[in-house]
Amino acid sequence: MKTIKKCLFPAAGYGTRFLPATKAIPKEMLPVLTKPLLQYGVEEAIEANLETMAIVTGRGKRSIEDHFDISYELEHQIRGTSKENYLTEIRNVINACTFSYTRQVEMKGLGDAILTGETLIGNEPFGVVLADDLCDSENDGVLKQMVKLYEKYKCCIIAVEEIPAKDSNKYGVIAGDTIKDTQYDEGALVRVNDMVEKPEPKDAPSNLAIIGRYILTPDIFDILRETKPGKGGEIQITDALLEMAKIGKVIAYKFDGKRFDCGSVDGFVEATNYFYKKSAR
Ligand code: G1P
Repeated sequence: MKTIKKCLFPAAGYGTRFLPATKAIPKEMLPVLTKPLLQYGVEEAIEANLETMAIVTGRGKRSIEDHFDISYELEHQIRGTSKENYLTEIRNVINACTFSYTRQVEMKGLGDAILTGETLIGNEPFGVVLADDLCDSENDGVLKQMVKLYEKYKCCIIAVEEIPAKDSNKYGVIAGDTIKDTQYDEGALVRVNDMVEKPEPKDAPSNLAIIGRYILTPDIFDILRETKPGKGGEIQITDALLEMAKIGKVIAYKFDGKRFDCGSVDGFVEATNYFYKKSAR
């Protein structure tokens, strides 16, 4: 059985909630302190021992490729000065993995973005990180925790967290049966048997919402090819995963750590304050 070496980053969306900031800057490049959201995601994937970062971009996203590359002019300018330190982290990232890119031509939803990434992933299990869900934890990163779980259960893993009932229409919401596993906290693992994309509170099957971390097996691509547009007229990964869940192949995992919704201004400010305080520790 192949281990997980690749991570897919759907990064083609418009980021309309952050206009005008995202008019000329991809939302994935918005910085929390001095680091773009996408770099946090890539660092989380590196920590989980993933080696290839497969990024699905779109028009106007070229700065992503430039960020994960050497800037010779800049290097030359600051060589030998104290400012060189500012580049250490990104240099380490560039040295630790390889990047590959493809473009989603039309914005047809997250499911379509993931299917677009098939050409970069091939026939192996892979991680998916939605960079605007920024995660942090004291011990192992969220993706690393999920890779461990995958090694044990060898099926799709999705990260979930409890949300207030009123927020159900912002997320994919799951339901299922608790898996008993003494290595995990009671209730941390759920064998998913239902999932709905952005239900109204009255239709939500539980208060467990999917956050932007997935481990997917490559059979998801064939299912996505057959998946019809769902919520919002878009091809939803939630709908494709429901097909897998029906045959018992999806586990929802209540991860250990914090998650900030950096796709919203409130979450973004919260993340900024959190990482600022953490950096001052
Ligand atoms: C996507 C998924 C949704 C998931 C969410 C997590 O929605 O479609 O199921 O709960 O990411 O952030 P989006 O936020 O892209 O609308």
